[in-house]
Amino acid sequence: EAADKGEYRHFMLKEIHEQPKVVQRTLEGRLGDAQVLVEAFGPQAAELFAKVRNVQIIACGTSYHAGMVARYWLEGLTGIPCQVEVASEFRYRKVAVQPDSLFVTISQSGETADTLAALRNAKGAGYLASLAICNVATSSLVRESDLTLLTNAGPEIGVASTKAFTTQLVGLLLLTLALGQVHKRLAPGLEAELVEELRRLPSRLGEVLSMEKAVEKVAELFAEKHHTLFLGRGVQYPVAMEGALKLKEISYIHAEAYPAGELKHGPLALVDSDMPVVTVAPNDELLEKLKSNLQEVRARGGQLIVFAAEQAGLEDGEGTHVVSMPHCHEVLAPIYYTLPLQLLSYYVAVLRGTDVDQPRNLAKSVTVE
Ligand code: G6P
Repeated sequence: EAADKGEYRHFMLKEIHEQPKVVQRTLEGRLGDAQVLVEAFGPQAAELFAKVRNVQIIACGTSYHAGMVARYWLEGLTGIPCQVEVASEFRYRKVAVQPDSLFVTISQSGETADTLAALRNAKGAGYLASLAICNVATSSLVRESDLTLLTNAGPEIGVASTKAFTTQLVGLLLLTLALGQVHKRLAPGLEAELVEELRRLPSRLGEVLSMEKAVEKVAELFAEKHHTLFLGRGVQYPVAMEGALKLKEISYIHAEAYPAGELKHGPLALVDSDMPVVTVAPNDELLEKLKSNLQEVRARGGQLIVFAAEQAGLEDGEGTHVVSMPHCHEVLAPIYYTLPLQLLSYYVAVLRGTDVDQPRNLAKSVTVE
């Protein structure tokens, strides 16, 4: 089953479409009636989580972007401080370890050399315990960590990570809720509300994927381009980073992600009709700010491609292409908005005729430094 593309032209497209099913698997056995089951993280999890006062996340590539989303969730929903760093930097610098820190690694393969080295360095450095959020049960990372949450996404063959990322996000939201529950730091009713939303997530992701044709059409705008900007604000900034990484990896178009508020501090100088600007615009408290950032792009003749909530009040117009997204809960928005960006990079790569599943110079798992 794993090595078979089935009806799909590429593994990447198959894996994008598997997301509703595998997200369901990530959730299986981990939700109670109205709460996350803390024991899903291991038998000692409840006792250890009660001691956690800080979270240090380490990962590489796409997994690092999942960690960046988690920081917004952890600090925003539980008030527990969180730092996120790429493993290749973390492993070689002197780190001031916060007291009672949980050391969290995120990895699809569980064999990434830098992530493993960072975990090994962390031992004896004063961390409370280590937790691996990982897709491979038999991996070194899982073997060497105190606690594990398997993402259960199944084998991922396409070098560009898709289903591994969304299942990591689900795992990290479970972690946020578990820590918030143990510390009684969540807003009243929020855990029950999000558990309900998580149960609906697989079928909702299926609805998001049904916009595939609209995304395929928009991809045509990129076929001849050499540079793109991806903009997001708040928790959507790491989503924009992941969107830019996907496009670079498989279409070889230079793509850079910026927090939309930083546009005026440099990248605005690059904007012209040759540089499409991709934006994710859910209906959140930063929407109005984002809209004025988009105005700055439009005023300079930039082509805007906006994935926007139906309620966002953004419409197609001169130089603006809006792809409407179904309504979703604000907390889960990073998971939803990732899907159209995956599809976008996929269809741009297909148009450009690149080797989608095996992009040049890249490896699925980087097990040497
Ligand atoms: C490689 C892969 C990426 C992946 C990164 C981290 O660069 O091409 O898709 O995100 O490694 O891999 P990991 O297995 O640790 O998540």
